[in-house]
Amino acid sequence: MSNFIIVLIIVLLLAGCATSGNAGHGAQIFSQGQADAPPCSTCHQVVNGQVGFSIGPNLARVAERAAPRVVGMTAAEYLRQSILEPHRYVVSGYRDMMYPDYGTHLAEQDIEDLITYLLTL
Ligand code: HEC
Repeated sequence: MSNFIIVLIIVLLLAGCATSGNAGHGAQIFSQGQADAPPCSTCHQVVNGQVGFSIGPNLARVAERAAPRVVGMTAAEYLRQSILEPHRYVVSGYRDMMYPDYGTHLAEQDIEDLITYLLTL
């Protein structure tokens, strides 16, 4: 019985590591912003299919596009760079107009939460 409890604790710890970000909180920052930082949804839509104009790319299924964007970067690494240093990679067809100061307004956990949310899109 005690073995079972130990195994259970290990499984719960591993599950905790796998989900270090809170997608729900990420979605909230995305749509409402945080502190003085503007909501991502000011410039980004998340809708399937072709849509009207927006300043930034539609982020539907960005998880699939993120990994192949930059050679040697995982999807999560690319998304982190996109949030903190948007000028490092400018998506073709768009201008280098993304709000550049999320790094000073969002805490490390907020960024993790945003990445976790973006990976669900
Ligand atoms: C002022 C408008 C604006 C705001 C606000 C903004 N973005 Fe962007 N974003 C852009 C533009 C324009 C691009 C395309 C140019 C580039 O790659 O930097 C972009 C690119 C991206 C990309 C790369 C998409 C791809 O297909 O590779 C991601 C990911 C992204 N933004 C996430 C976010 C997140 C998350 C937030 C909120 C924390 C946010 N953006 C806020 C304008 C914005």
